[in-house]
Amino acid sequence: MRQLDGKIAIVTGASSGIGREAALLFAEHGAKLVLVARRRDELERLADEISGNGGDAVAVAGNVAEAETAREAVEVATRQFGGLDVAFNNAGTTGAMVSIPEMTAEMWHEVIATNLTSAFHAAKHQIPAMLTRGGGSLIFTSTFVGHTVGFPGMAAYAASKAGLIGLTQVIAAEYGPQGIRANALLPGGTDTPMGRAVSNTPEALAFVQGLHALKRLATPREIAQSALYLASGMSSFTTGTTLLVDGGVSITRT
Ligand SMILES: NC(=O)c1ccc[n+]([C@@H]2O[C@H](COP(=O)([O-])OP(=O)(O)OC[C@H]3O[C@@H](n4cnc5c(N)ncnc54)[C@H](OP(=O)(O)O)[C@@H]3O)[C@@H](O)[C@H]2O)c1
Repeated sequence: MRQLDGKIAIVTGASSGIGREAALLFAEHGAKLVLVARRRDELERLADEISGNGGDAVAVAGNVAEAETAREAVEVATRQFGGLDVAFNNAGTTGAMVSIPEMTAEMWHEVIATNLTSAFHAAKHQIPAMLTRGGGSLIFTSTFVGHTVGFPGMAAYAASKAGLIGLTQVIAAEYGPQGIRANALLPGGTDTPMGRAVSNTPEALAFVQGLHALKRLATPREIAQSALYLASGMSSFTTGTTLLVDGGVSITRT
């Protein structure tokens, strides 16, 4: 059964990895899509692929750290498709993996801007559009890092992603009465360019895989399926949560 028939969705980070896979899956489930990331060519290729499969998708190239990108994405969703029901705010960066004394203030601010301030810009523009449709679903891609696991070298990343959980809870409380749900999705290690960059040698990959109870990384599709759940009516009583989809990385000690 198609879960997003007639729904209009923004997916950020759609040029790669989890976002790309979520865009394809949401389209399979009937959503019309606004695809956001910086690489226009990748977005346009994906939009063509979705259109080729009978779907509807349009690209908005921009930096999610800038308010204008968030404004434009909502404006395009409204102008092109008639509104906004779902926002998968998923774009993110680890930044450089360095110790805190080695981290410059610029490095810190860039990660916070890309991962956390972007979510504020997104919500600020997405919520009013969803209110005019009587509700909607916001999903923020967080991570187990900084929530259940401390990981050396990821201070700004962990802080930004933990910040998303606080933002999620406030949106859920503020807009629940008006039919808007907000949830944080917390993937474990996932086999994407970002996941491969963190595990960039066979030894590092084996180490990271071994941290998970399932002894492997997730496929992007597995994380996209959880995003689909949070986007759709199947999660209609789920709001303000942190959904760990982490292969057991949070509970293993073996
Ligand atoms: N892979 C993992 O192990 C893992 C685990 C937990 C959580 N996550 C989270 O999952 C999300 C998706 O990551 P992924 O694994 O799919 O990584 P990925 O394949 O590297 O994709 C990252 C996406 O974010 C976009 N992006 C990055 N900075 C951006 C910016 N400033 N403005 C606009 N778009 C930007 C990239 O597009 P452009 O380069 O075209 O801008 C790309 O589409 C991230 O938030 C990440 O933190 C990943």
